[in-house]
Amino acid sequence: MTRKTTRIGLIGYGTIGKEVHKKIDGDPDNGMEVVFVNDMDASLLEGLDSELVLADLADFGSKNADLVVEMAHPEVSRQWATKILEKTDYMLISVTAIADKDLEDAIKETTKQHGTRAYLPHGGGVGVDALLENSDVWDEVNVIMKKPPHNVDCAAAGIDPNSITEETVLYDGPARDICPKFPRNVNTIATLSYAGRGLDNTNAKLIVNPEWNTATVAVEAKAPGVDLNISRVERIEGVTGASTPASIFNSIQMIASNGPGIHIR
Ligand SMILES: NC(=O)c1ccc[n+]([C@@H]2O[C@H](COP(=O)([O-])OP(=O)(O)OC[C@H]3O[C@@H](n4cnc5c(N)ncnc54)[C@H](O)[C@@H]3O)[C@@H](O)[C@H]2O)c1
Repeated sequence: MTRKTTRIGLIGYGTIGKEVHKKIDGDPDNGMEVVFVNDMDASLLEGLDSELVLADLADFGSKNADLVVEMAHPEVSRQWATKILEKTDYMLISVTAIADKDLEDAIKETTKQHGTRAYLPHGGGVGVDALLENSDVWDEVNVIMKKPPHNVDCAAAGIDPNSITEETVLYDGPARDICPKFPRNVNTIATLSYAGRGLDNTNAKLIVNPEWNTATVAVEAKAPGVDLNISRVERIEGVTGASTPASIFNSIQMIASNGPGIHIR
């Protein structure tokens, strides 16, 4: 049986983008092929096959990608999500972008008009499946994130991470409002909220402590007769937890791989 290879375009070639590229290329049987890589920092693309380098994202259509994956910054979705979705499927991993209701509505409308699909990967989130499958039952969902302050990009919140000398709660409130304050750090809060009670009805807490050297994401959800408690503690590099690159690759694979074998869904 012959299957069409899925053509994948990558936007963002940092910690996650490089690893995802390596993993896609690492298994010739997975039925996926990287057809372009774009990054605003051209120096990161030096050494790649020139056929793969997409210097100007405006030319993405020439590459006929079946799926374009954003692994760069929420700003990319603001500028490009609907343009890409007019032509092909799009995964945004900088999920805080979806807290902008106008952008969320525009994405939904574009997919309806053009028969395309937008995807949010579970990324660094744990328990996304459990929240999603019973999204109508939850009375309360709390997502707690704990990080060392130097792994939080505090620029948009106007906070200097070096000024934090003890355990500090940087935010405690509705998930929607934390997203523009820490757009590069709380993607898992956005995803977990979107999967469960929505961004306005999920409580988000971001706590930092200079004595920590790991990142924690914890979910506590309650429904009649159900208590969901799950957390993960892991190494963090920059803004990204150790498990996230493999998680993003796995989500791409779930959508795009058409290779042989037994696949968990
Ligand atoms: N969904 C999740 O669970 C999750 C988890 C961790 C990180 N993230 C998000 O994923 C993204 C990538 O994370 P990372 O650790 O690889 O970051 P990184 O900083 O290592 O890499 C990001 C790359 O994107 C490029 N970039 C930034 N803006 C761009 C633009 N407008 N156009 C093209 N390229 C651009 C940068 O030059 C950089 O090379 C970030 O937005 C981060 O917040 C999501």
